[in-house]
Amino acid sequence: MAQTKTYILGIESSCDDTSAAVSLNTQILSNVIATQKIHELYGGIVPELASRAHLKNIIPVVSEAIKQAGLTLNDLDAIAFTKGPGLLGSLLVGTSFAKALSLSLNKPLIDVHHMKAHIMAHFIDNERDRKPSFPFLCLTVSGGHTQIVKVSSFQKMEVIGSTIDDAAGEAFDKCGKIMGLVYPGGPLIDKLAQNGDPKRFQFAKPKVDGLNFSFSGLKTSFLYFIQGETRKNANFIQENLNDLCASLQQTILDILFIKLELAVQQEGITEIAIAGGVSANQGLRDRLQDYEKMKGWNIYVPEFQFCTDNAGMISVAGYYHYLESEFTDLSVSSEARSISF
Ligand code: KG4
Ligand code: ZN
Repeated sequence: MAQTKTYILGIESSCDDTSAAVSLNTQILSNVIATQKIHELYGGIVPELASRAHLKNIIPVVSEAIKQAGLTLNDLDAIAFTKGPGLLGSLLVGTSFAKALSLSLNKPLIDVHHMKAHIMAHFIDNERDRKPSFPFLCLTVSGGHTQIVKVSSFQKMEVIGSTIDDAAGEAFDKCGKIMGLVYPGGPLIDKLAQNGDPKRFQFAKPKVDGLNFSFSGLKTSFLYFIQGETRKNANFIQENLNDLCASLQQTILDILFIKLELAVQQEGITEIAIAGGVSANQGLRDRLQDYEKMKGWNIYVPEFQFCTDNAGMISVAGYYHYLESEFTDLSVSSEARSISF
């Protein structure tokens, strides 16, 4: 029997990327992302500027996504949007726009959980045609979250470990700022680390019970170390930048892998996926591949364009809600935090 064709428009505006995508079932037809450069000037995201930029970007980005998909608005079967978690002012732009579009087109509206959508990026069609099978563990690492999620089905996802303070991406970005790198530091640290010695410097690793993570001690230890060294040598950062990045990245990965290994032991699951912005990190990808060989894990890594915030993951998460007739209505509102999984 021929599969029904379902076209979903996805809208993502939880942080500093305005994105719209169109999916045909689990295939992405377009995925347009407007990244807000303005925050580079401030070394971090300024929420008020982010929401203003979303307002400016949302119509052109959605129009472009529809155009690139070769469709018109009337071809869509539903509108999916990020309900949360994220920055409230940013979320409100995407939510309000999606609601207005759903009302004017008389199309169903689907609210999507941002972190679940990062995981759902694994179910986007890919060239290798390789998708994790249930149950699997997903290390979900972004600028706002660090979690280990046990994914038992499209509906059943359980957070079994999470950070008690900063997220892994935040640790990259805050340490990047300490070294004077442009925001966000994560991608640049990744690049510089490739030419550095990961064993050159040692930084604090936390002792946290169970499957939870902590990154605030690392940030403080990194700050004190840099302050001490630059007092002795004003050029310390410039002279040791690659080694600093490699050693910092190594410490962040060590913290992540200690808990990931523990989760594998506890759950007896060796289907392992990564998701979220930090899953773009080459060091993380390489180490996972080593674990695949050493420990016999089956690893799943999303395509680069679906690691950091994007609406493709929102469309495909929306598609799975659509199949279950999980729709919302115009009374829905954005939720910045503590939104249940
Ligand atoms: O998922 P995402 O785009 O947004 C949130 O939901 O937070 O993640 C953004 C985070 C930032 O902290 C950024 O520095 C980090 O992902 N990131 C990276 C890399 N690419 C993005 N961190 C390390 N290495 C990378 N290649
Ligand atoms: Zn994200």
